[in-house]
Amino acid sequence: IDELLSEGVAGKRVFVRADLNVPLDGTTITDDGRIRAVLPTVKALAEAGARVVVASHLGRPKGAPDPAFSLAPAATRLGELLGTEVAFAADTVGDSAASTVSGLTDGKVAVLENLRFNAGETSKDDAERAAFADRLAALADVYVGDGFGAVHRKHASVFDLPKRLPHYAGYLIATEVGVLKKLTEDVKRPYVVALGGAKVSDKLAVIDQLLGKADRLLIGGGMAYTFLKAKGYEVGRSLLQEDQIPAVTEYLERAEKQGVELVLPVDALVGPEFPDLKTKAPANPTAVAADAIPADQEGLDIGPETRKLYASKLADAATVFWNGPMGVFEHPDYAEGTKAVAQALIDSPGFTVVGGGDSAAAVRTLGFDEQAFGHISTGGGASLEYLEGKTLPGLAALED
Ligand code: 3PG
Repeated sequence: IDELLSEGVAGKRVFVRADLNVPLDGTTITDDGRIRAVLPTVKALAEAGARVVVASHLGRPKGAPDPAFSLAPAATRLGELLGTEVAFAADTVGDSAASTVSGLTDGKVAVLENLRFNAGETSKDDAERAAFADRLAALADVYVGDGFGAVHRKHASVFDLPKRLPHYAGYLIATEVGVLKKLTEDVKRPYVVALGGAKVSDKLAVIDQLLGKADRLLIGGGMAYTFLKAKGYEVGRSLLQEDQIPAVTEYLERAEKQGVELVLPVDALVGPEFPDLKTKAPANPTAVAADAIPADQEGLDIGPETRKLYASKLADAATVFWNGPMGVFEHPDYAEGTKAVAQALIDSPGFTVVGGGDSAAAVRTLGFDEQAFGHISTGGGASLEYLEGKTLPGLAALED
């Protein structure tokens, strides 16, 4: 983007593909981290006199307009953060978008409605995506890719559109890629990875890669119970992906052979049912050993011994990557595991990276100071796929 700025952008229509996919409670944004993350790019362009057209997806609507997934709240928040009025187009490539963009003056910003209200955005059909990208291209002179959270998607605005316009990487993408390089090239050791989240199936590919790279892998969250089951423990009513047990068993064996410490919870906080996240009514969980989860109970967080164990395993790390909460952190009775890992990262003298999605939202909603971490990524799936060594369509299109 510095190259673009030095060439001069005054009067040019610059399409910024951002990731404004923020969590919403109705129309209230519960975590605006992704909007704040794109501010440097939007500000720099606006200050240089560009006519900035910001576009993003939000959620997973079904290729047609759906008010529950409107980007209007994100546009309002962007305006508040920029301290200036931001125009909002009620569609993406229709009359409203055309008139909103043509009404922009130099240095002004507009946000288009959710890209995914158009089936062409996410289509697997190249021609359908291309047709949508052509219509988007008509709205701009230049493309800036800055939606790091979506670079792993082969979508029209991420992959096809940059091929149609002079294209540049924004500040956020440049920062995110720089950080991820530190985790993949010449990583400082010990390199410790904490992985949580609900489903082990989402993490298989990254575990596969990390077994060859990390020195220690700490497992928490719902996915831990499939590991415990693979070790032969009963897990009661805890989340379990039976079909993943063979893969998980293989990882446990491989870790041992390769000398990677794969650390599992030694205890868990269990309750008879999933807690009520709306009322946050007390759940009164019980701490039990990992091999003694009662048949009628569900594991919902790592237990106090595991908290201490994981903190000690993180204490001497030179590099840490953490992705996925350790428990149902949205309920105060099951937030301690996630808090303990966040605190261990803060206490660590090493370079610490929080990998996107739920874990990034967790550290902010639990009240931690973002500045206390080395980096909080805006990409959940995107940072995992980068670490898996995959080619990410949105980065390939920009490098091209
Ligand atoms: C994310 O939340 O990880 C990104 O915004 C991508 O969203 P998606 O998984 O719906 O493509």
